[in-house]
Amino acid sequence: MITACRRGVEMLGIGSYAPERVMTNDELAARIDTSDEWIASRTGIRERRIASDAESAADLGTAAAARAIEMAGVDASELGLIVVATASPDYYFPATAALIGERLGAAGVPGYDLSAACTGFVFALAQAYGQVASGLTDTALVVGCEVFSRLLDWDDRSTCVLFGDGAGAVVLRGNGSKGGLLGFELGSNGQGGDLLKVAAAGHSRAPAVGPYVTMDGPQVYKFATTVSVESAARVLDAIGLTVDDVDVFVPHQANLRIIEHAARRLGIPAEKVVANVDRYGNTSAASIPICLDEAYRTGRIEPGDVVLMVGFGGGLSWGSCVMEWTIPLKERG
Ligand code: COA
Repeated sequence: MITACRRGVEMLGIGSYAPERVMTNDELAARIDTSDEWIASRTGIRERRIASDAESAADLGTAAAARAIEMAGVDASELGLIVVATASPDYYFPATAALIGERLGAAGVPGYDLSAACTGFVFALAQAYGQVASGLTDTALVVGCEVFSRLLDWDDRSTCVLFGDGAGAVVLRGNGSKGGLLGFELGSNGQGGDLLKVAAAGHSRAPAVGPYVTMDGPQVYKFATTVSVESAARVLDAIGLTVDDVDVFVPHQANLRIIEHAARRLGIPAEKVVANVDRYGNTSAASIPICLDEAYRTGRIEPGDVVLMVGFGGGLSWGSCVMEWTIPLKERG
């Protein structure tokens, strides 16, 4: 699906939250057969955040959403929609979105969860765009929140070193004209479903232990490097922009080698690429909004900048979005 956005829907606020607990590569190396050198050279990851036993996806998502709502200057009761992208929800139901809404003071606002693994945030952004652009609602909250640490086999060195926990959120509102979100390119292909997956607990496909993340690393690497370049090129083409128009590139933070490969193939210079995978690892649906939030708050994104986001992951799935940054500098705090 490729869409050039025809209605103006813009970002009013953004926020993120990561658990306090930092787990370094050296800490992992003390427990399993790995090393800081192996992890850092293959992935760029140095450390990741891990939720405490008491913290859930809804807790992380609520903290990020509260920051986004505060920056947006809206009251939670003004929200008309809450979409939460997560592959590690608190429950199958109630939806994490309903829990987050209630805690924000937005009880009564419709909320639901969306499962598209690491592409979830871009899919959720497209969902919210559609509802706001069509007039179903004026103001939407989009959250990506994950406690992937609960889905990991901590004895499996091929997966447990890669992921981390965190949350990011944005508030969107229709502006009655144009601008803000400019275009999307989204896709899924269940043929590659076995390459990266977590079985549903208690269901017929659940293994005796876990369920945990399983992954064919080299195949997923091949998919990610190819699709991130192709999807980014397709969305830019659809809206009549070129890579030269891109001011900031915010790719899904799975692996620094994938990020650098995509930027190189697209022809985006290193100074336009935002990466924080070294400090968070892969936070799945939370990775793009955490990265966006950090880039904005540290001055890497300015109002008017054209921002290119690219997500990819389990499904297999992928999604790109181009937006014009609309949050004014005074909100940076
Ligand atoms: N520490 C040390 N060794 C490890 C290890 C770890 N944490 N994990 C795997 N290895 C070993 C393997 O057992 C294998 O050993 P063998 O050759 O003796 O069988 C070897 O390292 C594989 O090494 P290599 O081929 O160099 O790995 P790689 O370059 O393919 O890198 C990944 C592995 C996982 C980092 C890489 O495939 C990758 O990033 N894939 C994409 C993963 C991803 O981003 N998933 C999420 C997408 S949203």
